[in-house]
Amino acid sequence: MTIENTLLKEAKNRLIFALDVPGRKEAESCVKQLWKSVGCFKVGLELFIKEGPDVLKAVRDNSSADIFLDLKLHDIPATVQKALDSASAHEVRFITVHSCEGQAMLETAGEMHSRGLNVLAITVLTSLSEKELPALGFREGLTLHQLALDRAALAKEAGCAGVVCSGNEVAGIKAQCGPDFKVVVPGIRPDWSEVGKDDQSRITTPGQAIERGADLIVVGRPIRNAKDPKQAADRILQEIAQSLQPA
Ligand code: C5P
Repeated sequence: MTIENTLLKEAKNRLIFALDVPGRKEAESCVKQLWKSVGCFKVGLELFIKEGPDVLKAVRDNSSADIFLDLKLHDIPATVQKALDSASAHEVRFITVHSCEGQAMLETAGEMHSRGLNVLAITVLTSLSEKELPALGFREGLTLHQLALDRAALAKEAGCAGVVCSGNEVAGIKAQCGPDFKVVVPGIRPDWSEVGKDDQSRITTPGQAIERGADLIVVGRPIRNAKDPKQAADRILQEIAQSLQPA
């Protein structure tokens, strides 16, 4: 295998496609089109609530990619624990929990590793802006950056496999939590992306996110809304591979 192929294989393992589609038919069609370029498919609330666990089987039946179940769990620790128990039966690699309810809820993640389920804590939603923090009860002067770093530290201490954060916090979280703590970055917008202004404010390119230390990136609309989604995914793979190339 040439170096380039090795890098492209590594790049594929780092690319998560967000299956933000309304139903199973659309999901299957995306998986069939993209599975050779994408290492993991992310199933979120819209699709999972509509189709239930059957949609996970549909992804598995049509690809060898991993599954990221992005349910952003948020409840008392006992309930989150039971939800994680149920999720572990679905052979998914990643699942998300919110990190804003403190240590006990995050500690439910600890024992999931042995079952092959990596629990990722959401640091701060990318839709939240800094000026909203005081109204939510946070101290004046607290930055989103610091809040994300504090929550990542809590998630690490509690035994989570990693966090989801914006590209702006990757380097700080990697430096603070170490190389084995996974950092997953959404809000990816390649320079060439045809996606216009949307709800993502703290955005980075695939290359920037990887260079700052992201283990995986989540991409939805820049692939889904492209004229040729497969070509867009392959272009992102090239960009990731280039950033992985040793200097
Ligand atoms: O279409 P786009 O590339 O913006 O998709 C981003 C995906 O990442 C969506 O599924 C969204 O729910 C998810 N996400 C995010 N910001 C977070 C956590 C998850 O955009 N903080």
